[in-house]
Amino acid sequence: MESKEIIELPLDVSVDIDEGIEKFQSFMMSYSSAIKEVRTKLEILDKEFKVKRKRNPIEYIKSRVKEPRSIIGKLKRKGLELTLESAKKNLNDIAGIRVICSFVSDIYEIADMLKRQDDITLIKEKDYIKNPKPNGYRSFHMVLEIPIFFSNHVEPVRIEVQIRTIAMDFWASLEHKLYYKTAGKAPVHIKSDLKECADVISKTDIKMQNIQQELERLN
Ligand code: GTP
Ligand code: MG
Repeated sequence: MESKEIIELPLDVSVDIDEGIEKFQSFMMSYSSAIKEVRTKLEILDKEFKVKRKRNPIEYIKSRVKEPRSIIGKLKRKGLELTLESAKKNLNDIAGIRVICSFVSDIYEIADMLKRQDDITLIKEKDYIKNPKPNGYRSFHMVLEIPIFFSNHVEPVRIEVQIRTIAMDFWASLEHKLYYKTAGKAPVHIKSDLKECADVISKTDIKMQNIQQELERLN
């Protein structure tokens, strides 16, 4: 039988079980609420853009709250305390939202519009489009903090936002699958093939954007 790793949680047994469950549920709820807030903001921006410019810059949005198992796994990997407080303080990606845009320029417009909103604080930004990762990965990443209003308190909650084109998402999704199949032990030629695919896709993204801009000028 496969032996399972034992996770030791520093649970205080004197804490009432109901209290513990409630604390955990409200922890997870604050992150799903942050996703709802940011998703709504994005949908409003998309609709307004459509009214003004006659097209939607956002193709679709994906989101997820990190599984408790992954939260614990990441805290352990980083040698951090296994508590909800530690997770909230140290992990930026418990709430994650992925915004798939039509064109590269849409990514920057959407990111700028979000950053300009008064209730949003930019914690961190990484532009893997201007500076692709060595494996060819391209995407625009931001960690944002937004206030969530509960009945008797306001809580700042962080959320990781990844913005990319359909083409970048196509590559990242497949690369993720391939990477996990080989556990990162892929031979060098595979890595360079994947990188080549990323570069081809990036050129196509730029060409598509040029076509779009030329057509917009014609109209
Ligand atoms: P971590 O989440 O701990 O990795 O934080 P970080 O700040 O070092 O992460 P970064 O902003 O570089 O990347 C965060 C997320 O982007 C990852 O969890 C993935 O979803 C995605 N990502 C980053 N690099 C790659 C990559 O090479 N391939 C794919 N498919 N996704 C990537
Ligand atoms: Mg992550």
